Amino acid sequence: MFARSAAHKLASARQFSSSAARHTNVTVLGAGGGIGQPLSLLLKLDPHVKKLNLYDIRGAPGVAADVSHIDTASEVKGFEADKLEDALDGAEVIVVPAGVPRKMTRDDLFSTNASVVRDLATAAARVAPKAHLCIITNPVNSMVPIASRVYEKAGVYDPKRIFGVSMLDVVRASRFLAAIVGADPVNTPVTVVGGHSGETIVPLFSQTPASKGVTGEVYKKLVHRVQFGGDEVVQAKAGAGSATLSMAYAGARFANALFRGIAGEKGVIVPSYVRSPLFEKEGIEFFASRIELGPNGAEKIHPLGQLTAEEEEYLKACKDGLKKNIQKGFAFLE
Ligand code: NAI
Repeated sequence: MFARSAAHKLASARQFSSSAARHTNVTVLGAGGGIGQPLSLLLKLDPHVKKLNLYDIRGAPGVAADVSHIDTASEVKGFEADKLEDALDGAEVIVVPAGVPRKMTRDDLFSTNASVVRDLATAAARVAPKAHLCIITNPVNSMVPIASRVYEKAGVYDPKRIFGVSMLDVVRASRFLAAIVGADPVNTPVTVVGGHSGETIVPLFSQTPASKGVTGEVYKKLVHRVQFGGDEVVQAKAGAGSATLSMAYAGARFANALFRGIAGEKGVIVPSYVRSPLFEKEGIEFFASRIELGPNGAEKIHPLGQLTAEEEEYLKACKDGLKKNIQKGFAFLE
């Protein structure tokens, strides 16, 4: 399961016993943004968090002052633009929603965000090389290879500690399926594999028993909605940005799973886009699948399990897209 019950507890942190929690130092890079602000709020509610450092090139001290008044145990500190290294000092988990959202052309988005992720990863590799790095910045499919290469060049690369946060696809798949079958999303967890953009997102509905009767056009539309659900938000926000609140929720849920894995809880399994052996032989070095989290990060990468013929087709399209996205990331650094 995807940390679902813990996420519910997270929403009522005061009632959550923290006696079993190992306290984690967390840094958010991009904390002043549309995702960064609600994500910082949700992390403040998470009892696993001991120190919450909020950094952005603008606005982080204000967000920190605001969030710091919430009566949970963690200590919050805000950092100005020139204090990146201070913000990273002592971090065990770094969450990165820094960059620009999808309101510009995709190419603008890529080069701007690639530079942001490269520079932030360079600092993280220097100051907190052992921290778990969780990348939200899009395009995730290319940003994770970029950060990984930066760590490699710095000589501190541990593939188990760099994650692309693809949790929003999981959240959407579960919610959209639940709406169709008339269930509570808690009973419709969906494994989503591949990457995090359009056709590279492959929901494996066949592995969720509740989806049994969802076939034909309804199934195709459901898959399409998961793959392109972000467009609904971009259009509804009419140029003002992309998903922020649902992403903050998904990011906090992923972080909570990671905190619990780091604390030694067994059986914490979530989908995430990581360095993966699953399709390495086909030239795809990074892939999202169910991963088991532990003190060292992504301790175990689970295979995909059985796929239907339709899912195999989606997987084929995913692999073609992913390969290009990964290469684009590497090419940026050359
Ligand atoms: P936003 O523009 O509201 O916030 C981004 C923040 O990053 C701003 O506060 C900005 O000042 C800051 N920033 C820019 N450069 C920085 C740097 N070098 N260091 C520190 N902070 C920096 O954008 P929003 O909506 O919060 O989106 C952030 C990113 O998340 C985008 O790339 C977006 O595409 C991505 N995203 C990812 C999703 C996922 O599922 N992984 C879902 C939705 C968005």
